[in-house]
Amino acid sequence: MTLTQDFWRGKRVFLTGHTGFKGSWLSLWLQSLGAQVHGLALAPTTTPNLFTVARVARGMASHTLGDIRDLATVQQAIQACQSDIVIHMAAQPLVRLSYAEPVETYATNVMGTVHVLEAARQSASVKAIVVVTTDKCYDNKEWAWGYREDEPMGGHDTYSNSKGCAELVTSAYRSSFLKAQGKAVATARAGNVIGGGDWAIDRLVPDILRAFEQNLPVVVRNPNATRPWQHVLEPLGGYLRLAELLYTQGHAFAEGWNFGPKDDDARPVQWIVEYMSRDWGNGVSWQQDGGQHPHEANYLKLDISKAKARLGWQPRWPLATALEKISIWQRAWLAHEDMHQLCLTQIQHYTSTNH
Ligand SMILES: NC(=O)c1ccc[n+]([C@@H]2O[C@H](COP(=O)([O-])OP(=O)(O)OC[C@H]3O[C@@H](n4cnc5c(N)ncnc54)[C@H](O)[C@@H]3O)[C@@H](O)[C@H]2O)c1
Repeated sequence: MTLTQDFWRGKRVFLTGHTGFKGSWLSLWLQSLGAQVHGLALAPTTTPNLFTVARVARGMASHTLGDIRDLATVQQAIQACQSDIVIHMAAQPLVRLSYAEPVETYATNVMGTVHVLEAARQSASVKAIVVVTTDKCYDNKEWAWGYREDEPMGGHDTYSNSKGCAELVTSAYRSSFLKAQGKAVATARAGNVIGGGDWAIDRLVPDILRAFEQNLPVVVRNPNATRPWQHVLEPLGGYLRLAELLYTQGHAFAEGWNFGPKDDDARPVQWIVEYMSRDWGNGVSWQQDGGQHPHEANYLKLDISKAKARLGWQPRWPLATALEKISIWQRAWLAHEDMHQLCLTQIQHYTSTNH
């Protein structure tokens, strides 16, 4: 997969969720490609956060703090920037929080998606739309093999289910309106992403790094849970490639796409904790949290054959490399280095790595 710098230079991209973990990385990547990036999201909720630490705002063409649960806010933001491409990433993305806040999770993830698609439908300029959902949108049967794009949607918890709903909403908007208007819309389903600059609560790698920093044992809920781990730049590269093809080729690519790691990198949580503990040194240790926890899937793998064959996309960094990049990132942050520059350097390393 190669992204075309000429394609992205000057393209107006409307990106929701630009203040989040993935959104900050994607904004920096798009900025480095010469795109005009217009963001809509809520203010960052953690301190520290990547958006601030990597000074993402300074390269944005415009940057609006607003709520996608409000249709008028989304309409105004899309109209104002006359975007060519929409990448919809804003969401309530945490499984455990979705147990505490199911209504807010559905409002943001389902109606928020309706609002973005409705605003895109009303915009004369938008030609291509990528809606970011998740690997958890599938009806999880705890199979040993990977889910393929035509498998049924589902979701046990309200986060996963809300993303399955966002998939169905996108499909209905495509067939009812967008296809006839010549606007190509696709969904992107990625696995668990990891990378420098994630400070979310209840996510494995941020939890591990917080424990390392405080010299405490890492407490793990579910050491045997297997996830398709991948560095954040992997799916982001997939979204960009997909957006490019939607824009240039149109409806032929307007469907669902999986972006996951190679098979070997669907590893249990315990493997990650042990790898990162060895790498960090300092005698760090881990233990299992014996408490009661809400249901989370144990086994989840994605089949990425379609993205490989038709988008020319495939993973570049094995899990070990992804973990090394995180460790480099974290140590640089602790040493007060220039994190904007470090992110750009890691993006550059990623794009110059051969598959
Ligand atoms: N991180 C992962 O492992 C992972 C895996 C698969 C899919 N995803 C998906 O990728 C996307 C980004 O995830 P992330 O990890 O960067 O999450 P994040 O929490 O770091 O970022 C979420 C973004 O959405 C914005 N947002 C949330 N509610 C909003 C609202 N009501 N109005 C406007 N903006 C709102 C936030 O302000 C933030 O910019 C989400 O759609 C998520 O479901 C993430």
